[in-house]
Amino acid sequence: MKKEYKKLIKEAEKARKRAYTPYSKFKVGAAVLSVDGEIFTGCNIENASFGLAVCAERVAIFKAISEGSTKFEAIAIIGDTDKPCSPCGACRQVISEFGEDIPLIMANLNGDVKIKKIKELLPEAFGKNDLL
Ligand code: THU
Repeated sequence: MKKEYKKLIKEAEKARKRAYTPYSKFKVGAAVLSVDGEIFTGCNIENASFGLAVCAERVAIFKAISEGSTKFEAIAIIGDTDKPCSPCGACRQVISEFGEDIPLIMANLNGDVKIKKIKELLPEAFGKNDLL
């Protein structure tokens, strides 16, 4: 695995520790690597109004976008799952907005890693071209 991907997983793991999950107790971390080498991290943030929970991947992406970083190299996601942590459907849609070819690095706390392109995880996604 590329050195930069290992670093991205490490950063996602650090962010995971900051997850706010009093309801599900399921902590997720994410890290986005921008084309200019910057890393933006995110964790899931829940709410007493359960439906308002925001996933780690979306927090990381929205942080990057709001800081002016819009082109990404890779995204890592980590959770305490048996298999490498897979992103939810809503996050797949949000990730695909910023690059169908971005490798998604899925990881768990046991060191298992699986890398897939977002277009493999969300084939035939609805996208900006559909609005033209
Ligand atoms: N969660 C994420 O952060 N990312 C995903 O892709 C799957 C689910 C969070 C949302 C919620 O806080 C908890 O995991 C349980 O669903």
